[in-house]
Amino acid sequence: MIHKTGNRVAPVKVLVIGGGAREHALCRSLSLDPDVTALHCAPGNAGIAEVAEVHPVDALDGSAVAELAASLRADLVVVGPEAPLVAGVADVLRERGVPVFGPSAEAALLEGSKAFAKDVMASANVPTARSYVCVTPEEVDAALDAFGAPYVVKDDGLAAGKGVVVTPDIAAAREHALACERVVIEEFLDGPEVSLFAITDGETVLPLQPAQDFKRALDADEGPNTGGMGAYSPLPWADPKLVDEVLETVLQPTVDELRRRGTPFSGLLYAGLAITSRGVRVIEFNARFGDPETQVVLARLRTPLASVLFNAATGNLAAEPPLRWSDDAAVTVVIASHNYPGTPRTGDVIEGLAGAAEVEQAYVLHAGTAHDAQGRVVSAGGRVLSVTATGAGLEQARTRAYEAVSRIRLDGSHHRTDIAAKAAASA
Ligand code: AMP
Ligand code: GLY
Repeated sequence: MIHKTGNRVAPVKVLVIGGGAREHALCRSLSLDPDVTALHCAPGNAGIAEVAEVHPVDALDGSAVAELAASLRADLVVVGPEAPLVAGVADVLRERGVPVFGPSAEAALLEGSKAFAKDVMASANVPTARSYVCVTPEEVDAALDAFGAPYVVKDDGLAAGKGVVVTPDIAAAREHALACERVVIEEFLDGPEVSLFAITDGETVLPLQPAQDFKRALDADEGPNTGGMGAYSPLPWADPKLVDEVLETVLQPTVDELRRRGTPFSGLLYAGLAITSRGVRVIEFNARFGDPETQVVLARLRTPLASVLFNAATGNLAAEPPLRWSDDAAVTVVIASHNYPGTPRTGDVIEGLAGAAEVEQAYVLHAGTAHDAQGRVVSAGGRVLSVTATGAGLEQARTRAYEAVSRIRLDGSHHRTDIAAKAAASA
């Protein structure tokens, strides 16, 4: 069943696939949408279970997901993470006539293969780092020589954020390159990074608000790369024309090129950008909402989410009015478990969640959590919580987020203390 009011069509029963903080943020927004009367998530986590009915599922198994969607009579399935998309889960759902927000396996290659993404960008004239795709050691050496230090070496395939090495050390660059079957070696891009998401039905492209994430584990961008330790939005330092420019030079041409190739991209197109002295360049594309940027972008979205995702899934995005945004700022701080991004310790009890949620305009999104046998909430992954707050400006949002963080206790955990600090000071 779907709701229809004038031109507006919205799904009533929604199933979200995934179980991280991004899916918790999606579920939270969908649960606040008056059109949504039933919200399901699979596999979910302990926090998602508070806003949605959770179901066990192997998210990589398209048939299992489709059967779950059928048994729930879902009007819309939203696929959160990249692995099921690359595995073709959205294709199985589409073949069975279920509206699905998320690209086909072929279109998700934009994230699944860096070489494919480079080829699409070259065809569509999208600005990105110059690069070589290398297989042999001779090709690797020639490419490293051509660009010089710092070296940027990227495993061609999906590597959960661990496939990229940026280093001044040629021996380390070479070692990483030779450990990969196929690598992309590219020019180093300097300048701040921006994540800009767009919702698309394969033709119409609706950009969201930009955000910035913090990829390194430690303050001052030290330490190893992670999946993301925090994020904020908006970006007070960015050119107000940035979104329009990226829509025109990156997002629309990429979507048009994939449609022209007969593999339209429908879902969430994530552009990871570097704002260099020579202009905006694409660092990478992802085929899904980014984590933790989604937590701050959705915190600011005023338009009810379900109908937008449904219209994208069904090819009707042109009918969607412009998205509405709050003037508030949003900050999210990730609490990670002991040893993350190395093999994380799990099963530690989390305390103080209720106290954290009492902080004004703050809430705790769960990333890797579960219930133990006694029903306590325990850590179950590397990134455990994504503590999110909004405020009149970044300073207020970050004060609230950190106040909430200070009320949470998780043995051995760590978090960055400088999320949005520089941007708040410059605003
Ligand atoms: P990716 O997995 O493609 O997001 O890359 C991970 C991180 O490596 C990015 O967020 C950047 O910080 C860095 N990186 C990737 N490509 C480049 C590049 N061409 N120049 C500089 N840094 C890069
Ligand atoms: N925030 C980085 C990512 O989602 O890939």
